[in-house]
Amino acid sequence: MRRTTLTQFLVEQQRSARAIKPELRLLIEVVARACKAIAVNVGKGALAGMLGNAGTENVQGEAQKKLDVISNEILMEANEWGGHLAGMASEEMETFHEIPNRYPKGEYLLLFDPLDGSSNIDVNVSIGTIFSVLKSSDELGPVTEKSFLLPGTSQVAAGYAVYGPTTLLVLTVGTGVHCFTLDREMGSWVLTQSNMTIPEDTKEFAINMSNMRHWEPPVKRYVDELLQGKEGPRGKDFNMRWVASMVADVHRILTRGGIFMYPRDKREPDKPGKLRLMYEANPMSFIVEQAGGAATNGHQRILDVRPGKLHERVSVILGSKNEVERVTSYHLA
Ligand code: AHG
Ligand code: MN
Ligand code: MN
Repeated sequence: MRRTTLTQFLVEQQRSARAIKPELRLLIEVVARACKAIAVNVGKGALAGMLGNAGTENVQGEAQKKLDVISNEILMEANEWGGHLAGMASEEMETFHEIPNRYPKGEYLLLFDPLDGSSNIDVNVSIGTIFSVLKSSDELGPVTEKSFLLPGTSQVAAGYAVYGPTTLLVLTVGTGVHCFTLDREMGSWVLTQSNMTIPEDTKEFAINMSNMRHWEPPVKRYVDELLQGKEGPRGKDFNMRWVASMVADVHRILTRGGIFMYPRDKREPDKPGKLRLMYEANPMSFIVEQAGGAATNGHQRILDVRPGKLHERVSVILGSKNEVERVTSYHLA
């Protein structure tokens, strides 16, 4: 059986599909290599002291795990010197990072959630990395926070890695969604699924039900209807899953359909949701749309949201199209 590696796939995207430039190919390869290094560290767990808290907090006031910090360093170091980037930003860094002057600079901006699902590290449940690539519109000028504040429609690539029973890399460069599995013996990413598609309908939903009392009426109405099952207005039973790692929940939806929601709620009125727009919601929305699904904040397409700040939060409803459209219509009613 002929195996297509990530490198071959990217060369193909560059040559035939003309979907990417050589610099973007390099960028994606470097990110994929960094994810491999993160996977190695994740796999060592307690044997190499990888579990537990780092003893620090990030800008969002969350306790950092050791693996949050290590994964962030791996991605930063891997991407700094290649000449393909103008700057980077991460969940774990208060402000953006400009490429130092000793290295050549490129036209891309890389944003990442180095370790998604941190609460699952110590309990040995799937975790991941999420990344988004934007093309800087600044003509070689210095990078500022404003350079990053582009809507999700400006992404030229997005992807995530899942560190689970197998290590996966799911990627889009705007020509569908493709999944690569890490061959651990060979150390290479092998294409194992092309053109992933999300079924338009589903019987599975994902939401943290413990927040129900804080939800806004449209989400409450939607979930109430699902819970009534066959006897209710939907006329069928629904199943529920919540991994609490967005990568794992989104990957399930890409594999067999479903709807994922982390809606805004009344707990902290000044925070429009928990998930971060630029390095969680945007890359996942790009992937989901490329797979035929939909992603909104209840009122508009997530990819159209104009970010006001780097760590902005957003309400997220994504997955099977017909369900996302239904919840969105309840918001607009
Ligand atoms: P992170 O670990 O990068 O901070 O992200 C965690 C996110 C996301 O992965 C997941 O869907 C959600 O938080 C889970 O939140 P709850 O613990 O509130 O369910
Ligand atoms: Mn996350
Ligand atoms: Mn994270």
